[in-house]
Amino acid sequence: MQLVFINMHLTKDEEKILRGEEGEAAKKAMELLVVLGDIYGAEKLIDVASVQVSGVSYATIGDAGLDFLEDWASKGSKSRVFATMNPAGIDLERWREFGFKENFAKKQLRIVKAYEAMGMRPSYTCTPYLVGNLPHFGEHIAWAESSSVVFANSVLGARTNRESAVSALASALLGKTPYCGLHLEENRKGTFTVEVETELRSEADYSAMGYYVSGYEGVPVFKNISSVRKMVGMPASYRKSPSTEELKALSAALGVGTIDMFQILGITPNTCAEKGEKIEFEREELKEVYEKLNSAEEVDAICIGCPHCSIAEILKIEQLKPEREVWAFTARQNKPLVEKCIKNKKIKVIYDTCMVVSPLGDLEIEAVGVNSAKAAFYCTNLSKLKVRFDSLENLLK
Ligand code: F3S
Repeated sequence: MQLVFINMHLTKDEEKILRGEEGEAAKKAMELLVVLGDIYGAEKLIDVASVQVSGVSYATIGDAGLDFLEDWASKGSKSRVFATMNPAGIDLERWREFGFKENFAKKQLRIVKAYEAMGMRPSYTCTPYLVGNLPHFGEHIAWAESSSVVFANSVLGARTNRESAVSALASALLGKTPYCGLHLEENRKGTFTVEVETELRSEADYSAMGYYVSGYEGVPVFKNISSVRKMVGMPASYRKSPSTEELKALSAALGVGTIDMFQILGITPNTCAEKGEKIEFEREELKEVYEKLNSAEEVDAICIGCPHCSIAEILKIEQLKPEREVWAFTARQNKPLVEKCIKNKKIKVIYDTCMVVSPLGDLEIEAVGVNSAKAAFYCTNLSKLKVRFDSLENLLK
């Protein structure tokens, strides 16, 4: 790539990298960030505290992605910051047991090897903030994977744009990102208000609301949100504001569109007074989303964990005493607790992957039950599966 014109200010060290003095992969990464920075009007690059890399499943990046990663890994460059990874396409240890095909698994394992060679940490989860990659308020980060981007910006108050798989990789190799978009204070203000005029009784309700609002653009400010649901280990009276699980469900569904940040008045950091256009979210809109995302009554598998289950969600599944098999997708870091706490054999905990980025069709699954609007949307449109979208309680009845 020949860079004809650079508007951004680069430091002497950054110029050296651009000239290739720190290796070919670093040079390519710098070229990429400079081009992106110029396109988005960034004045400079800034340091990032952590990176979340997407584009890990062979189902989503294919052979072209695999070749690209092996090429970059062969150049010997390593991540300069703490970088975690999104889910892969299989449970990396028990893929045979679950019936994933060998050809797919072999290519998936090569992808994982390439990323790990470049210093990415083997987290394989879309909820890095639940397993050790927890940025603090005001910290600049470069995360890919829309659900974690929305959660980091909105709930944690960290600052990130929605990076692509390649720009996140470049940021990991350099520890930098262009200073633009949601890194700037002026772009983090609410731009429209969502009046919530209905009770939200489950993560699925939060997810449905997020999916509805994802059809808009900007930074929504939610008003009047209150949960009526009980959480494991908490008295009913405690649950007035959304739980971590409800906020992650809302984040994931908002990310189906272009929204990368939201605010909830009185709950999330930096909320401001009512802004811009007002939309109302009532019982009617909630019902509309459920109707739109449902295409099956009977399902072959119940798949919970989009975004990946917290340990509290897995405990809740057990508390509900499922009578049929449930697949719970989560981060491998939860395995020690899962093995100690979960005794119900009907709960199959699957690590490293999820119902969307794994090839469920290869397992002869045609219809899935999910409590996530994001999973319902992608299972329908990407994986071409039939879907039942409902609350966890209803799915397990
Ligand atoms: Fe995570 Fe897969 Fe959903 S990556 S947000 S569980 S689609």
